[in-house]
Amino acid sequence: MLSGIQASGQPSLGNLLGALIPFNQYQNTHNFYVFMADHHAITVRQDPKTFRENTYALAAWYIASGLNPDVCTLFAQSHVPAHTELGWILNSFTQMGELERMTQFKDKSQQHKQNINAGLFTYPALQAADILLYHPHEVPVGEDQRQHIELTRDIATRFNGIYGDTFTVPKAVIPKVAARVKDLQDPTKKMSKSNDSIGTIFLLDNAKTIEKKLKKAVTDTKENVIYDPQNQAGLANLLEIYATLTNTTPQQAAEDMAGPQYGPVKKAVIDAALTTIIPIQEKYQTLMADKAELDNILAKGAAKASLKANQTLLNVKQKMGYTGV
Ligand code: TYM
Repeated sequence: MLSGIQASGQPSLGNLLGALIPFNQYQNTHNFYVFMADHHAITVRQDPKTFRENTYALAAWYIASGLNPDVCTLFAQSHVPAHTELGWILNSFTQMGELERMTQFKDKSQQHKQNINAGLFTYPALQAADILLYHPHEVPVGEDQRQHIELTRDIATRFNGIYGDTFTVPKAVIPKVAARVKDLQDPTKKMSKSNDSIGTIFLLDNAKTIEKKLKKAVTDTKENVIYDPQNQAGLANLLEIYATLTNTTPQQAAEDMAGPQYGPVKKAVIDAALTTIIPIQEKYQTLMADKAELDNILAKGAAKASLKANQTLLNVKQKMGYTGV
């Protein structure tokens, strides 16, 4: 298995529920490669100091929320140059029309109209390289990344069709609940770490802020606790958040909290969020206080990842007819 998170901004509750928490189980059952996608982050302009800090922060969040770097392979994308080299190669196996259809590109180019750069456009070819270097069978991601994994499958199949069996064609593994945690102020949108509003809970928010944001979450006027994502999207989102945090189902949570008021639901979600997030924040702070140790962990991870990645890259270049390999 393999997955990554962009090293841009602070991770959100969406990242925690859709990615970080599910990752914990996978490290025990799979050979799991996890990385900070720092090359992906630069497709949006980054301040150097903040970018550096955010990359360390993401490593710390991974570990604080349960990943054990002695069990999985945890590394920074830019520490393994094979990613960009294969990314370049795969650009030539990716069609403009395919890239034009990517919703993440459409969204980001709307958000950053002044800087619609080529990197933002070809981003999915680099993501395909991230994945295909390690031959994963499964890529655990939230719903919003499904399209990129589908494209990765198409690129792998295309390459295999030309040069013979080279890449494993992976499939996306999407969580049953919390695959798309919604914005607390607008439950038609996903909760996003690039949206700095009270609709997004950041993992670094303090207890008071988390409580305030959840209290202000938009619901509806039906005042009837049932799990109905179509008609009561705001409430359904809260029930999904609660269910993921407490390891139950949103249907069960709705039954347990059935009644004519939303107040108790919000209170339960706040308690569950704080119970999970506060201990993670404490571990995060300890890890961030020792960057030398984080550097050590990442150097070991990059060495381990490189072994596998370089082997795949060599095979690709040999098949394609590059010299010197
Ligand atoms: P990124 O950084 O936007 O998100 C990281 C992971 O968090 C999930 N996620 C969510 N899940 C549920 N609800 C939400 N509101 C929510 N928001 C985000 C995402 O689906 C993702 O699993 N391009 C990727 C990073 C990447 C990658 C890769 C992932 C680069 N290379 C290779 C997998 C494999 C991205 O921008 O994710």
